[in-house]
Amino acid sequence: MFGHVFINGKIVIENKAKIQVRDRGFLYGDGLFETLRSYKGFIFMLDAHLQRLFHSLKVLKYKIYFDKEYIENAVNKTVKKNNLSAGDTYIKIIVTRGIHSGDLHFDKNYKPNIIIFADSLTPYPEDDYTKGINIISSSVIRQAAGSPIYLHKLLNYFENIFAKDEAHYKGAQEAIFLTRDRLVLEGASSNIFFVKGNTVYTPPLTQNILPGITRDVVLNICRENGIKVRQRKIHYRDIINADEVFKTSSVAGIVPVRKINRYAITGEIPGKITTKIMKLYLSKVELSNLH
Ligand code: PDD
Repeated sequence: MFGHVFINGKIVIENKAKIQVRDRGFLYGDGLFETLRSYKGFIFMLDAHLQRLFHSLKVLKYKIYFDKEYIENAVNKTVKKNNLSAGDTYIKIIVTRGIHSGDLHFDKNYKPNIIIFADSLTPYPEDDYTKGINIISSSVIRQAAGSPIYLHKLLNYFENIFAKDEAHYKGAQEAIFLTRDRLVLEGASSNIFFVKGNTVYTPPLTQNILPGITRDVVLNICRENGIKVRQRKIHYRDIINADEVFKTSSVAGIVPVRKINRYAITGEIPGKITTKIMKLYLSKVELSNLH
């Protein structure tokens, strides 16, 4: 049964939704996307996601002929048209630079295409949250810092799906990117945290990582609840010797990790601090749902 998608101002049945083959998102991955989810009809952190999207559109010189309200209305219309206003929904917003006309540089005349999907969300297995997941380190080695690319959620996501494939074939649920010096950056589709003693650690945004919305929510939860939190470079040995490790993303939320490659986390899974943060995160979701 085909759902309805939003494409450039219209809501159309999915199998009728067409984009031209010279679209730069298709040709070069020249486009941005946001993945969000709703809880019982309430889209969590929508503003933060739109903030990140519009920041990247500006920095990467896309022609912004629409505003946040336009996208917000389009998201709500797409969710409604798919009768998903009451449930848990997986939402993807895509903005490509537009139809290629020969110049590879970021010509301001390229008119972006906007596509929005809204699907009923398939929750991750309960075991992921109660027993934890396995993660591996990807063979893709990243530069530690200074790349202007990783700060943006780009359609050019091949490194990430390559790493996911590596994880899949090793029976793991996520892959993490390391640098040559074995610094831990982020997951293929998540940010990474570890706990040692009573302190929570995560890499700083000066490193080549996506400024995750959920990462930010967790940092605020720690600050608001007196949980010591440090943003500092993380070495691989830190996480394999950690008391607790967890990953964060908008769709999955906070997911405890039980094994990193062949190293099992010895402590309780999820650990006490991860459990506390998971509870506080869900109450933040509930709370924001009330407003
Ligand atoms: N991935 N890092 C990367 C490379 C990501 O792709 C994602 C999100 C994150 C977490 O960001 P956020 O908390 O804003 O979701 C970090 C999304 C879920 C995706 O796979 O589409």
